[in-house]
Amino acid sequence: MKYDVAIIGGGAAGLFCAIQAGKRGKRVVVIEHNAEVGRKIIISGGGRCNFTNLHTTPENFISTNPHFCKSALSQYTADDFVRLVQKHKISYYEKKLGQLFCRDSSRQIVDMLIRECNNARVEIRTGSSVISVTKNDLFVVKASGVSVEADKLVVACGGLSFRKIGATDLGYRIARQFGLKIIETRPSLVALVIDGKTDSRLAGVSVDSDVSAGGHSFRENVLFTHRGLSGPAVLQISNYWHKEEPVTVDLLPDLDAADMTKRAEGSGKLLHGFLSEMLPDRLVKSFVTSGLQNKLVGNLSFTDWETVGAKLKKWQVRFCETEGYDRAEVTLGGVSTDELSSRSMESKRIPGLFFIGEVVDVTGWLGGYNFQWAWSSAFAAGRSV
Ligand code: FDA
Repeated sequence: MKYDVAIIGGGAAGLFCAIQAGKRGKRVVVIEHNAEVGRKIIISGGGRCNFTNLHTTPENFISTNPHFCKSALSQYTADDFVRLVQKHKISYYEKKLGQLFCRDSSRQIVDMLIRECNNARVEIRTGSSVISVTKNDLFVVKASGVSVEADKLVVACGGLSFRKIGATDLGYRIARQFGLKIIETRPSLVALVIDGKTDSRLAGVSVDSDVSAGGHSFRENVLFTHRGLSGPAVLQISNYWHKEEPVTVDLLPDLDAADMTKRAEGSGKLLHGFLSEMLPDRLVKSFVTSGLQNKLVGNLSFTDWETVGAKLKKWQVRFCETEGYDRAEVTLGGVSTDELSSRSMESKRIPGLFFIGEVVDVTGWLGGYNFQWAWSSAFAAGRSV
C-alpha cells in the first residue's frame, strides 16, 4: 500500500502529526502496535491528562541544544492547543503553575485526536508492530500484518518509559540504522534512590521543600519512600541530577537562620516541640539527634543551630540510581538535535525521514510540558511532510 506519509507510533506526537498532514491533503497512515492509540495519554496526569502548560517557554526543556525547541514551540503554542480543546468542548482547569488538566477524563483528549484524524482522513492501523524499515526511492515499513510504502516517514514511537504500555527502543534503532547520532538516554521525571540506608519510619512523609541541583531549584513537595525520595520537587530535579553530585534539600524553605532564632527567643520549648510545629514529627525524630531534640531552644548554642540548619536546610542527599524506566514519566536524551532541522524535524542526512516527540533529545519539566513538546514538534513536522 502506498501513502504520502507513514507515521510509526499512535501516541500524542504521531496522532497530532497525522492530523496536520492529513489536513494538508496528504494520504497518511499511522502504525501503532497497541490495540488502541494514545495509551500513555489515557494514564497521564492521574487519568486527567495535564495536556499543556500555559507558561511554556524554551527554558522549561532540557536538551543538548537548548535552542532547538524554540522554533517548534513558536509554531504551535500552548494557547493553540487550548483553542483546540475548547473547540471540542472539553472541560479543563488549571491545577497550579499553569498546568491544565481535563476536568473529567484524559480519554477525552484521545477521542478528540481520533475525531480530528477521522476528519483529516487519516488511516490508523492498530495491533501492528513495526518489524523493519528500509529505504529505496520510498520508505518501506514492514509491520505485523501490514507492509506500507511512503514518500515520507515520521518516527513518533516515543521513549523507553513504561514498557508495560508499549514503549520500545524502535525509534532509536531506526535512527542508528540510518546513521543518526543518539544522545545517551536515561529515565527521568522519576523517583531517586538514596545511596545508603534509609530510615523506613519516614516512608510516606511529604514536606514542602526547595530542592536544588545543577544550578536549578524547584519548590514543591518531597515525598519520602522506602528507597529514597519522590514527589514533584524530586521528579523535577531528576531532569538535572547527575550521579556524581549531591542534591541539596531545604526542608524549611520559608525560614532562614535569623527567622529561626527569632522564633526561638523566649519560646521555652524543647527543640523537638519547636520543630514539630513546622515539620512532621517523624521527620524531626529522624533528622535531629535525641540529645539535641531534648534541649531547650533558649539554651541552644550557635553550633547547635548550625547543626540543625545543616540537617534541615542544607540536607545533602546522594542518590545512586533512579527507580528506572518502568516508573519514569519520560526518557531523557534521544535522537540528537544536531541531526534534525529545528523548523521541520526532518533529518539533515536522510531527506524524508522525521523524528518527533519524546524520541528526540528534548525533555520537558513536569507539568504539561512534555505533551506540549509532542504537539509542537508534531505540528512542525506535519506541515512539512
Ligand atoms: P508516546 O509514548 O506517547 O507514543 C509512542 C507510541 O508508539 C506508543 O503508542 C507506542 O505504543 C508506539 N510504539 C512504540 N514502539 C512501537 C513499535 N515497535 N511499533 C508500533 N508502535 C510502537 N506528560 C505531560 O505533559 N503531562 C502529563 O500529565 C504526563 N503524564 C504522564 C504520566 C505517565 C505515567 C507517563 C509514563 C508519562 C506522562 N507524561 C506526561 C509524558 C508524556 O506522556 C510523553 O512525553 C508523551 O506521551 C510523548 O509522546 P510521544 O507521542 O512522543 O510518545
